[in-house]
Parts: sequence; structure tokens; C-alpha cells
Amino acid sequence: MTTATLLPEPTDLSSLVETAQLLVAEDKGLLAIDESISTCNKRFAALCIAQDEPTRRAYRELLVTTPGLGDFISGVILFDETIRQHTSDGVPFLTVLTDAGVVPGIKVDLGAKPLAGHPGETVTEGLDGLRQRLGEYAGMGARFAKWRAVFTIGAASPSRACTQANAHALARYAALCQEAGLVAIVEPEVLMTGAHTLARCAQVTEDVLHEVFEQLRTQEVVVEAMLLKPNMILAGTDCAEQESNQTVAAATITCLRRAVPAAVAGVAFLSGGQSGDLATARLAAINADPDLLPWPVAFSFGRAIQEPALSIWAGQDANVRAAQQALLIRASSNQDARRGDDTNAKGRPVKTVGTLPPAPSRPIEVHLLPPTSRTEPA
Ligand code: 13P
Repeated sequence: MTTATLLPEPTDLSSLVETAQLLVAEDKGLLAIDESISTCNKRFAALCIAQDEPTRRAYRELLVTTPGLGDFISGVILFDETIRQHTSDGVPFLTVLTDAGVVPGIKVDLGAKPLAGHPGETVTEGLDGLRQRLGEYAGMGARFAKWRAVFTIGAASPSRACTQANAHALARYAALCQEAGLVAIVEPEVLMTGAHTLARCAQVTEDVLHEVFEQLRTQEVVVEAMLLKPNMILAGTDCAEQESNQTVAAATITCLRRAVPAAVAGVAFLSGGQSGDLATARLAAINADPDLLPWPVAFSFGRAIQEPALSIWAGQDANVRAAQQALLIRASSNQDARRGDDTNAKGRPVKTVGTLPPAPSRPIEVHLLPPTSRTEPA
């Protein structure tokens, strides 16, 4: 007796390319609200907000129902708890987002766990059963997914073992996403924590990105149908010398141009703990000369967009409107930053929707060929 293998039909990759391009079109970017329960609770605890499911649901409802969100935000990254939640009126968050023209996505990794034999380093887990979970999320309406790998800079880290294990997992995840019909957001995050210089961050990030793209190629991931979510090149938070935004931008552009194929659909930075204003100003500096950028360069910020909204809300219904306005200001500032403009970063009132000049969306015609496999030794 033969057992049928329940493999999904081959995905229409051109529709994934379209979705990936849509996520970085019109100078919009992504809003990450995919904090795990424990991370969300930690942020609530710092503001004396109750740490329970109804409160997390109320906060996420505030975010996803922000009027006008879709004018600045192309996609929202949800967490497993959040993708299943509804507004207080019973409308699924997925429906709210889709109706607002915002593409819903889902974080699918199961977190960074200690890497055996390498104290202080982690490998992101979640590949076991991932095919089934991706199928479920795609069936619910998610159109993209995210997986985050974490690298800490130390005297001897990240180790080769850490870089390879995480890059391999990112590539296996991305291949499974493409099989399931989801755009993969590939997030290798080199952390800001530490006393390292900007030059060391550049060297580590370049090494990590080279390994990630090598592994993506080995797994035959079509890079036109994915987005890269990298860190900016920054000195560590404990480093005495903190460079200007222009230096950060130049180092970031140099690093990415060296390591990221021009065929990648887009780059969307994480904020990684930078203040909202700094993340925005640096994004503007990076976008100051679009001729240097072979890909659309967008944002996929969590804290750098959410931060003022969360503290203004503080768990109080009466503050929902003001918090939503603060969220829109941060989102709008980042759209301006994609145009190289940092003038709105200090929290001026958000522009009236409709007065923005039409932003050129640059859909690139992609002729999809299967990725070339590496030649295996005979
Ligand atoms: P931050 O922008 O707060 O770093 O969050 C982005 C994210 O999605 C981390 O995985």
C-alpha cells in the first residue's frame, strides 16, 4: 500500500513576488505587533498595565483599528495569539486589517533558544511542524511570515556555529514559506547591545548576511519573492563613540550592497531598540540618495512605531484616540523617511490624508527563473 504524501501544490511564485513588492510599495512599511506573550507582558509591566489576555487583546485592537493606518502601513506582523483575536464587536483582526488595505502576516518562529556548546549564543527554533503551521496560517488569511534569528556581538561571537545554524534555519523556513504560498520575511538581527564599534557591527552583519544568502541559495529560495529585515549598522549601545546618522547610513548602505542580491524584493529594517526619532532619522539618511539602493528600503518597526502609543494608552480606554493619533504620527514619519525626508520626525501633527503627493510605486517586472543551484562536488 502506498501512502500519499500530502505535499502542497507548487506555489504560484509570481503572486508571491507581487505581494512582496506590495509590502514595500508607495513608501509604506510594516508594523510589527508580533511580540510574544512574555515580551508583551514585560512591556505592559513597565507601565503598570495588567498583563493578561483581555488587556493584550484591547491593546492590539487599538493598534489594528487605528483609522487611516493603511495610508502609511502596508502590512502588520501578528503573533499566534493575536491572529486569532477579534475586536470587542466580534470582528476578526484579520478582517479589520484586510478591509483597511493592510496585508496581514504572522511571526512563525518559536524563539531564540540556547545553542548547545556555545554559552551566551542562541539558535532560533520552530522548524518542526512548521509546514503544518504555515498551512494553517495561510488558510486563515495570512500572506506573509516572519522568522527572527539573533546574533550577539562579543569578543568571540557570533561563532561560526551560531551563524551557520541560524542561517540554515532561516533558509529552511523561507523555503517552507514559498511552498505554502507565503512571502518570507527573513530577519537576521545583530543586536545593538554591547560596547562594540560601528566597524565591528558592519563586519559581523556582512558575515551574517553572506551566510544567510548562501544558505537561501542552497535551499533554492527565490529571493525576488522575499523581504530581508536587517539591523542598521550601529555602534553598540555601550560604545563611547556614537556616529552621526550620515555615517550610520553610509555604513549600512555599504554593508547591504556588498551582501544582499539586487534581486531581493525589498529591505525593511527592524528598529532594534533605537528611539523612534533616531530610527526614523537614520532611515531618512539611508534613503537620501535612492540611486545607491538597488532595492526599495522600507521599515518593519515594532517599538519605534508603537512606543509613544503604548505609553499614552497606559491601559485606559479614555486614551485610545490619543494613542492612535500618536501611532499615526510615527507611521507617517517613517513614510516621509522613505522619501529621504526627516522633517516630520519630531512628532508634528500627522498630515491630512489625501494631501500626500502620489508616491511612485515601482513594481519591477520579474522574469522568474528557477534559482541556480550550487554545483555539488562530483
Ligand atoms: P523592533 O523594531 O522593536 O526591533 O521590532 C521589530 C521586530 O519585528 C523584531 O523581531
